[in-house]
Amino acid sequence: MEIKNESIKILVVDDEESLREICKDALRDEGYQVLQAEDGQNALEVIAANEDIDMIISDLRMPVMNGLELLEQIRNKKLDIDFLVMTGFATIETAVECMKKGAADYLPKPFNINHLLVKVSKVVRDRSARMDRARLSNIVRMLNLSNALNSQLDLKSICYEFVLQVQRNFLPDSAVLFMRRDDRTALTKSVVRGRLFREDPDLFSKVQKLAEESLEKNKSFLLDPSNASDEPVFSDQEFPYSMLIVPLLSQMKKVGAIVLLRKDKKFFTTDEVQLLSVFAAHVATAIQNAKMYSRIRDQNINIIRSYAKAVEAKDYYTKGHSERVALYAVKLGGFLRLDSEEMDLLYTAGVLHDIGKIGIPDHILNKPSKLDDEEFEVMKSHPAIARDILSQVWSLKEILPIVYHHHERIDGKGYPEGIGDGQVPFLAKVISVVDAFEAMTSDRAYRKALPWEKARDILLSGSGSQWETDLVEKWVKLVSDEGFESIQQDIDVKPFKLMDKL
Ligand SMILES: [Fe+2]
Repeated sequence: MEIKNESIKILVVDDEESLREICKDALRDEGYQVLQAEDGQNALEVIAANEDIDMIISDLRMPVMNGLELLEQIRNKKLDIDFLVMTGFATIETAVECMKKGAADYLPKPFNINHLLVKVSKVVRDRSARMDRARLSNIVRMLNLSNALNSQLDLKSICYEFVLQVQRNFLPDSAVLFMRRDDRTALTKSVVRGRLFREDPDLFSKVQKLAEESLEKNKSFLLDPSNASDEPVFSDQEFPYSMLIVPLLSQMKKVGAIVLLRKDKKFFTTDEVQLLSVFAAHVATAIQNAKMYSRIRDQNINIIRSYAKAVEAKDYYTKGHSERVALYAVKLGGFLRLDSEEMDLLYTAGVLHDIGKIGIPDHILNKPSKLDDEEFEVMKSHPAIARDILSQVWSLKEILPIVYHHHERIDGKGYPEGIGDGQVPFLAKVISVVDAFEAMTSDRAYRKALPWEKARDILLSGSGSQWETDLVEKWVKLVSDEGFESIQQDIDVKPFKLMDKL
């Protein structure tokens, strides 16, 4: 990138006025902006009054504060200012010391002015390259973060992760993420971090007002003590902060605003405004997607529940069966420490496992006595009917094998395929245990509910032949530990990623 010398600010520090003047004239001829100071102490005052100094060219031997001390102060304050040392023969060792402490280069006195300009130009080039690299690595980091956020669908996680990453990358003393609910202009706080709002109780409402303006006008704010009073909300109070507000918009849809605050003269830069704006735009899209997915997810859950209810409408005695099987399956899954994807599969498969009964004639479904062989053969077709129905929904393909095989036995005597232990999908085995348990402990057309202890004994006697022993034992332990009453209570079911894909 081409460097414009006009944008470079250089501070020349020397107790010899004539030398300062020579340097100043030569540097100005090259286009640089030049400031002067007569010693280290004076230099620090100039720096405090001018935040954006890029380079110091300093003598070493000076009254009040010498060059080495000045350099140490600059480094202690972590100011990003390059340091070029001018040194006479007598102070050459100190110059070496300066290089060790991070000076960019040194220039032996007396020097030819062209020599000075060559050194300055090299420092400027190195500085520019260093900043480009830093900017690029920041952008790459932000883009990676944005991509990671875009693959997230949970709104809360996106908001927390966004603020966390903003804190790590911009080091604010406080940060707040505001979100817009519905189409109201007023914003509500989503995530708040840091101490400044506790220290200054009036600050929050004022910041919120400005954040609302930022979003309404699609405008970023960069405020510090020098310009804050231009904003009406801050016109009547001292403003010891640097504040950055960036609106979050996704395809012109107003999503929210992020506010960062720093104290103690750690000023935000225009580079940081740009960087945060890019990040905010990506995050706004991720938030919009998450909101959309959440709406679709709710709809899909309702559709799936209504499918299950359609079956229950035909089969009065199985009312609530599918939902309870789903909840039991998730409880057992939690006990087995399955991951969230498997839990989602279990829940969805649980709700839909008997959907195939939709194709079974009512007189068989609701027969008040045991089915005869012929009727049982018809009943045995419900997993295949379920497979036919569900295979038309691409996003449910992962639950197909679970639903299809939920009546298999590990001894191979089940249906529809009669496959044995090694071939029955694990999650189908889980459903099979809780399905049998739920059926036994509920009223049916042909019998009353069994006490849970009876159901437990039947499960235990069939373990190793009909059901997998380990699963039966775990389920029995879970029900014994928690109590049959409490096991029937609703549980907090995790988000259903599978349904998100519908
Ligand atoms: Fe079934």
